[in-house]
Amino acid sequence: GGSGRASANTVAAAITPVSAAPELTVLFGSQTGNAEELAQQLAARAADKGVSAKVVDMADYKHRQLKKEQYLAVLASTQGEGDPPDNALDFHEFLHGKKAPRLEGLRYSVLSLGDSSYEHFCKTGQDFDSKLAALGATALAERVDCDVDYEDLAEDWINRVLETIASEAGASQPAAVNPLAAEQAPVSAHSRKHPYPAVILTNQLLSGRGSDKEVRHIELSLEDSGLVYKPGDAVGVFPENNPALVNELLSTLDFDGEQTVSAVEREVSLREALAFYREITLLTPPLMKHWADLAADDALKALVADSGELRAWMEGRDLLDLIKAWPIPRLAPQELVNLLRKLPPRLYSISSSQAAVDDEVHITVAAVRYASHGRDREGVASAWLSDRMSEGDQVRIYIDPNKKFALPDDSKPVIMIGPGTGVAPFRAFLQEREEREAEGENWLFFGDRRFRSDFLYQSEWLKWRRDGLLTRLDVAFSRDQAEKRYVQHCLKENSAEVWAWLQRGASLYVCGDADRMAPDVHQALLEIASEQGGLNPEQAEEFLRQLNRDKRYQRDVY
Ligand code: 2AM
Repeated sequence: GGSGRASANTVAAAITPVSAAPELTVLFGSQTGNAEELAQQLAARAADKGVSAKVVDMADYKHRQLKKEQYLAVLASTQGEGDPPDNALDFHEFLHGKKAPRLEGLRYSVLSLGDSSYEHFCKTGQDFDSKLAALGATALAERVDCDVDYEDLAEDWINRVLETIASEAGASQPAAVNPLAAEQAPVSAHSRKHPYPAVILTNQLLSGRGSDKEVRHIELSLEDSGLVYKPGDAVGVFPENNPALVNELLSTLDFDGEQTVSAVEREVSLREALAFYREITLLTPPLMKHWADLAADDALKALVADSGELRAWMEGRDLLDLIKAWPIPRLAPQELVNLLRKLPPRLYSISSSQAAVDDEVHITVAAVRYASHGRDREGVASAWLSDRMSEGDQVRIYIDPNKKFALPDDSKPVIMIGPGTGVAPFRAFLQEREEREAEGENWLFFGDRRFRSDFLYQSEWLKWRRDGLLTRLDVAFSRDQAEKRYVQHCLKENSAEVWAWLQRGASLYVCGDADRMAPDVHQALLEIASEQGGLNPEQAEEFLRQLNRDKRYQRDVY
């Protein structure tokens, strides 16, 4: 949450008429910004319903305030293992701790965001909901758990919350309009709802000969889009499923691809629906359960009843596997379309700074390819961009702002840790800092498999190193020697220096793999804090937690 927004909220509160419009606090716990954006939408709509709303980042929320709230809306996403987003950790802990107050007078509702293909789907939102209820608060609208295609459900929830508050409070006149709202930065006509067809200017191989990976550097034109972005933001890409896979689905089902179905608020051909609008490469427990109901097969029913077995079966399988394993007699094409999730856009961290490249946006894409259960498989968007999109083709995109991954003031040092394609946003950081002639020091830790083939953007880093923009550059090539060498080993080798930078006010940025790299880097940072700062394990954890609160430890991991 920026200070600009906080002051706008203060103004809104100050001009609320004394006729006492109902007061709604909108708390968000957000990692990539979706929950935050929805919180802003809720607040923007509140005035029309005569509700006075203010949006607060959970990290900035004064816990003492909770007892005084009249209406509370909580929007929270869930991270990988069912964990709260970083900015929600403190509030989540407070609510579940001994100091949480009784909340008999409070009316609340929770919107949770998640991904049903993960085991702990929407866990954080569920935690908030059950804890608030246990503390005596009453729900004013039932909690809604949203999957990756959250837009419609979220919109319904927003309407329901606002209508309930308005009718309970008998609010009739609209609350005074926030005069600052009209002055906000001009918004592009393009958004997730109305993506911009960006022309590909460059699509070139970045990884070298002999690499195990295929990493590409892609430049897109933003020409007349009005889209703006900051270093740290991501671009959302609406991909197309592999046409060969769509054909195979159609022929296995014996469906005519040219027949019309309804998907996305309009009629399209079944082929288009499967290619552009539905997810066909991933199975989720809700889909499996619906499938079991329709297939009426005892073996499948038993499978979906055991969540461990179900997960094991779904792993590495897709819709085609499901259709072949358990065909549904007389399945109608429209029924199939209705069973599937919307194909969600894929997010790529932007690897350019608009200050440096004007009306372009650059991304760094690693093609995902693997084999499982006897078939070759691929990542939808990365394979589409790598194999089927070339210069001159159009990609439907939007900008996904990331307020949780942003450069500090120009004078502050930054330490950037980005192995593999995790290095992308740091190219944007350095382009930006070069353009701004920012005097703060810059230290990059990069890692990948081999120096010869995988040193992504090598010549750019080396040039910046020579120029002095990069104060330090440390690299770990994991497979150039017998022993594995990773970025966290470089960090540990430089413990004293890293600690000195932190003492000088450096901010830490970590981007890339969330499963192994980010926890290992976190562990290395804890060790540095205890060795260099003489902190015990709890103090070291608290040190990193405080850095995060101060926006000096930011992660963009996936
Ligand atoms: P590896 O594939 O040789 O194991 C980018 O993908 C780089 O991250 C690769 O060099 C990869 O090494 C490395 N990597 C793999 N696991 C990691 C971990 N737990 N921490 C840091 N880097 C890791």
